[in-house]
Parts: sequence; structure tokens; C-alpha cells
Amino acid sequence: MTETTKDPFAGHKKLERNVTLLGLFAFLAVTVGGIVEIAPLFWIDNTIEQVKGVRPYTPLEQAGRDIYVREGCYVCHSQMIRPFRDEVERYGHYSLAAESMYDHPFQWGSKRTGPDLARVGGRYSDEWHVQHLTDPRAVVPESVMPPYAFLAKHDLDMGDMTAELTALNRVGVPYTKTDIDKANDDLKTQADPMGDAADLTKRYPKAQVRDFDGNPSRLTEMDALVAYLQVLGTMVDVNAASAQEDLATEKGR
Ligand code: HEC
Repeated sequence: MTETTKDPFAGHKKLERNVTLLGLFAFLAVTVGGIVEIAPLFWIDNTIEQVKGVRPYTPLEQAGRDIYVREGCYVCHSQMIRPFRDEVERYGHYSLAAESMYDHPFQWGSKRTGPDLARVGGRYSDEWHVQHLTDPRAVVPESVMPPYAFLAKHDLDMGDMTAELTALNRVGVPYTKTDIDKANDDLKTQADPMGDAADLTKRYPKAQVRDFDGNPSRLTEMDALVAYLQVLGTMVDVNAASAQEDLATEKGR
């Protein structure tokens, strides 16, 4: 009886005892697995799922973002809400990949001396932001954030926004020719409560048009930075986004 029963693991035993054979098969397994995982990435256009509402930044928001990067706000602030209960309860819906798809470079960050800012837009008034940036301890007594009062004194001079939008367009941000041509005008229009912003808001849906720094007679760096902070996390209706995810599944992605 024992002589006729074949050991079902005989082949595997042989493999495990022969270093060369084991190496060869391990290599094959990793290669096949690797190809299956990596190869499709060369053929699909986009690894980020499109989400309704995400649009490129207006020139003013983009200028504010440049100031954010210039001042190193990312040293203390992240912009990515992780999908954990404590984060979601504190900051709101976790961040979607599409929400930072037009960020070059992205501001996800990993250091949180201050709170995450991914959804700070609309949480405070412009006045609060101006006061907080001017003197953080005036509104949050225990704050360790440095003051940035000079932003309200500096005229906004970001150079040629046409050039900046062109550069961003080259790396994939879908600015249209009109967006690029009108960039320098758009920059001023968004912060001018007296101007005609119909064309701007048509090209940049939900763009907030007003004087942001409390001084309508001047366009300052404070205007741009507050405009940027106020748009953070507001483009996507996150509650509708999960419904949209279902829709994407139906369409077969
Ligand atoms: C040295 C670290 C540090 C730097 C640099 C810093 N912050 Fe902060 N920030 C904090 C801390 C700490 C808080 C929490 C206390 C407070 O509200 O002031 C905070 C709070 C904030 C808040 C309020 C967030 C909320 O949800 O209550 C905003 C908005 C903000 N910072 C924006 C900025 C911007 C814009 C810059 C760059 C111009 C910046 N911070 C630079 C540390 C920093």
C-alpha cells in the first residue's frame, strides 16, 4: 500500500531543496506578478479617477498657492486627510486623489505642527484668516504659528501669470487658451468686487469673487493667499462624490 501511494508534495520538495531551481521559479513568479501589476499603467491614460467639480486653480488662487509654497506653510501644515475615523471627524471627508491632481507640486505633506488644511476653505471668514495670518495669537492665544502681517502690505506681483499657466498646462493642467490669454486680467478680476466676473466664473465654476484682504483699493499677497485658503477642499461636493463613484463603476471605469 505505502509503496503505491505517490507523495503529492514530491515535486515541491525537489524545488525547495534545489537552490537554483527555487531561485529560478521565485524569479518567474515575481516577474509574472510584476508584469501583471505594472504593465497596465503604460496603457491607461490616467490612474486618477475623475471627480466632478475639480477644476484648475484660478490665477489668483494659484498665486496664493505660490505664496503658500514660498512661505513654507507646508513645513507645519499637511493637505491630506487620511481615511481614519479620528481624521475624518476632525477635518471632514478624507481627501480624494482627484482633489490634488492639478497641484504641482502637491502639498500633501506629513508634518502637522498645525492642523491639516485640505478642507479649510469656507470654515472661517476672510476676516478671520486676515487676522490670523497677521497675528495668529490674536485669535488663537496658544498658537505657535508665525505672523505673516507683511502679506497685507505687499502688492501682489507674481510676474506673468500667462507664463505660469502655460507651464502648468504643459504638465497636464487643462487650462484653455482663453484661460491662459486672460490670466493676468483674471488675477485682478477675482479680487475686484466692482468688476465683471461673469466670464471668469463661467470658466472657473464656483470661483469666489470678492475683495479678500479687507482692502478693496489694493491687490495684495494677502488677497491671493486667502483666496487660495478659501478654495481648499471646496471644489468637490464630497457627499455627492461617493454617489459618483457608484456611477463610475456602472460605466465600467
Ligand atoms: C511653525 C509652524 C507653522 C507655520 C510655518 C504655519 N502655521 Fe498655520 N498653524 C500652525 C499652528 C500650530 C496652528 C494651530 C493654531 C492656530 O490656529 O493658530 C495653525 C493654524 C492655521 C490655520 C487654521 C486652521 C484651522 O483649521 O483652524 C490656517 C488657515 C493656517 N494655519 C494657515 C497657515 C498658512 C497659510 C501658513 C503659511 C503662510 C502657515 N499656516 C504657516 C502652525 C504653523
